[in-house]
Amino acid sequence: MMPAISLSCSDIMSKWEEMVSAEGQYELDVWHDLETLTGDVISRTTFGSSYAEGRQKFQLQKVQTKLLVQEAQTLYLPGMRYLPTKRSKRMREIDNEVKTALRTIINKRLKEMQAGEYIPDDLLGMLLKSNSEEIKENRNIKSGMTVDEVIEECTLFYFAGHETTSNLLAWTMVLLSQHPYWQERAREEVLQAFGKNEPDLDGLNQLKLVSSRDTKIIPTCSFNESSHRSSY
Ligand code: HEM
Repeated sequence: MMPAISLSCSDIMSKWEEMVSAEGQYELDVWHDLETLTGDVISRTTFGSSYAEGRQKFQLQKVQTKLLVQEAQTLYLPGMRYLPTKRSKRMREIDNEVKTALRTIINKRLKEMQAGEYIPDDLLGMLLKSNSEEIKENRNIKSGMTVDEVIEECTLFYFAGHETTSNLLAWTMVLLSQHPYWQERAREEVLQAFGKNEPDLDGLNQLKLVSSRDTKIIPTCSFNESSHRSSY
């Protein structure tokens, strides 16, 4: 999935580079762009070529989350959820729209699978392949997931992966800004490994400082840079 992730990163980097080169310098609240970036990555890694459509529907999910939060904050009166309020109507519309669009994407894939066409290794492809193997193995269609369950899995990827990852990226940027020493070291390592080339999986696996595996070297707010310089 590296090429898909790399493409989303390049899009955002080009946007930032353009902003900076037009103004010489640019102050930007990166939060929204990081949200867009992670949403884009999830759409691309889930839906492959149907990514644009998936992304549009995922964006609607975000609106849905906001409406859900508003609903939870509203004073609850018995039977209220049955009232046809503007909000509940909009929530039903969004739910229908998202499910219909995802069902279309999934049914198209299922048809391609039945016709023996190549199924890409995006998350949806992997899910459908493993589902069909499960059904074949048990010789029972009920042992697999229904289309509705596959839809739920796809929306779950988005709910589970979107804010978590964009928060992590935003927090990483906050920490790197607070600790220019580590920012410099991280940049140095990445430039040494890739120069101007696109990052590849082998290279990423060799990074020591910019690595999610070794949490010992992730700086925290209370990290004393000078006392740790000699260890790395
Ligand atoms: C920094 C990023 C992330 C963090 C900190 C994180 C954290 C977690 C945690 C703590 C759980 C367990 C929740 C529980 O035990 O109930 C979980 C579950 C899960 N995560 Fe993540 N996650 C991240 C990114 C992602 C991404 C990118 C995806 C997929 C695109 C994802 C998909 C899932 C799924 C499908 C579950 C299972 C949810 C369920 O069925 O209960 N996560 N995650």
